[in-house]
Amino acid sequence: MNYCEYDIKNKILNLLEEHCTEAKEKAVLNYLPKHEIKQQIQGLLAEQGAGDEALYKVIKDIILPYSNNLQSPMYMGHQVPPVLPLAAMLDYVISSLNQSLVVSRMSPVMTLIEQELISFLTQKIGYDSKSGGTVTSGGSISNLMGLVCARNKYFPDNDLSDAVVLCPEESHYSVKKNAFVGGIKSENIIKVPCDENFKTSPAELEKIIIDLMAKNLKPFIMFANAGTTSTSSFDNLTELHKITSKHDIWLHIDAAHGGSLILSKAMSHLIEGINQADSISIDGHKMMFMPSGMGMFFVKDENTLKSCFDDIEAHYLYNDTEEIIKLSKYSLQCTKRADAFKLWGCLLAYGTDFFAEKYEYLHKMTKYFYNQINKSPLFEAANDPEFNIICFRYAPKGSSLTNEQLNEINFNLRDRVNNSGQAMITLTSLNDIIYLRATLTNPSTNEECLRHLLSLLFSHGLT
Ligand SMILES: Cc1ncc(COP(=O)(O)O)c(C=O)c1O
Repeated sequence: MNYCEYDIKNKILNLLEEHCTEAKEKAVLNYLPKHEIKQQIQGLLAEQGAGDEALYKVIKDIILPYSNNLQSPMYMGHQVPPVLPLAAMLDYVISSLNQSLVVSRMSPVMTLIEQELISFLTQKIGYDSKSGGTVTSGGSISNLMGLVCARNKYFPDNDLSDAVVLCPEESHYSVKKNAFVGGIKSENIIKVPCDENFKTSPAELEKIIIDLMAKNLKPFIMFANAGTTSTSSFDNLTELHKITSKHDIWLHIDAAHGGSLILSKAMSHLIEGINQADSISIDGHKMMFMPSGMGMFFVKDENTLKSCFDDIEAHYLYNDTEEIIKLSKYSLQCTKRADAFKLWGCLLAYGTDFFAEKYEYLHKMTKYFYNQINKSPLFEAANDPEFNIICFRYAPKGSSLTNEQLNEINFNLRDRVNNSGQAMITLTSLNDIIYLRATLTNPSTNEECLRHLLSLLFSHGLT
């Protein structure tokens, strides 16, 4: 028998190859209401399998045609990138070998590859040899790891009654969720105001800290942003670090989106000071074009991570006489995929400049779009984008429409454009105003695509 039964592997791979080759030219979405998709897949599971042909047919007739087409240059949806085909291939290697990174005995090569990747990237961050990190399933878990390390440092006895988590108004929602998981009282999760460019205000941060300390509370961690979810805005990391270090507060930088700029010399000014942070989240499955899930958590001092779980015992695992590497001791996971391999492999094959060029190009395209919006009498941008996410809305100059009416128009515009299958964008609310949001993650998105998006918005929504 072949490695994969029934030879379905080659059939599926051929189909996928054909689909991906043509994907750039195809619609972003062939919209079908959910109940119609459900009709096609429900009730297919039974005691007797339907056979590989039935499965093949589902992939060919339902999954491929009706899934979001991230390879389309008109896909500007959420921060999920079109994956590098090589990374998808390496993902297949990872799944096929199924090396678990619990202890090096279970993954003699992949464990070392994760360590190599982390070590290479800590140097790119500008950390010294005391630093470390671990591959995670994504930004939410990396942010949780930051909280775990800070909590372990400041509250080793687990009495969290006075513990306060500080986060910008523009934080990703995982910060609040994690604070809840970490046992922080909800009234002790304090939001720090941002300025008109959605950057955390250092002056407001310091005022809040002084006020909290006067009430005998202990703010112990500040989550700063390097690439906010809504607008890809970057906090002034150096200024925030001055304040957190003065008041003995852990600084975690949520760089899930923007941390990839450690690979770009031309854009590294946006993350200046990142190497001063106590810990950092950076996602491979966002701007490094990796299939999910692939996030990374970095710490300035590896001991702060190691000490979190060092005294945890699991005799069935940690029982070797020879020196073994126990990555599970620095992770919230036990079984852990060798996801490091896909990023390590792409960096090996392509080098860091390959990624840097893409960021510079995507930023240039985002700025082009911003300029087009500014030139238009119909649209306005929320701010000047620092990287590759731009928020904008239909708001004709001189019109008497109220913000409430404009909110409704823009809200409906998103669905109309997306359901047309010609483009995909998202929306968000900033200061109670609904904005359309375009995330440029596809290096094949060009100026023509962006002009096309504006004309689509016009023709689908406003005429
Ligand atoms: C800034 C930021 N942090 C964290 C996350 C959460 O990452 P994940 O979806 O990988 O858990 C996101 C996701 O959009 C994000 O934009």
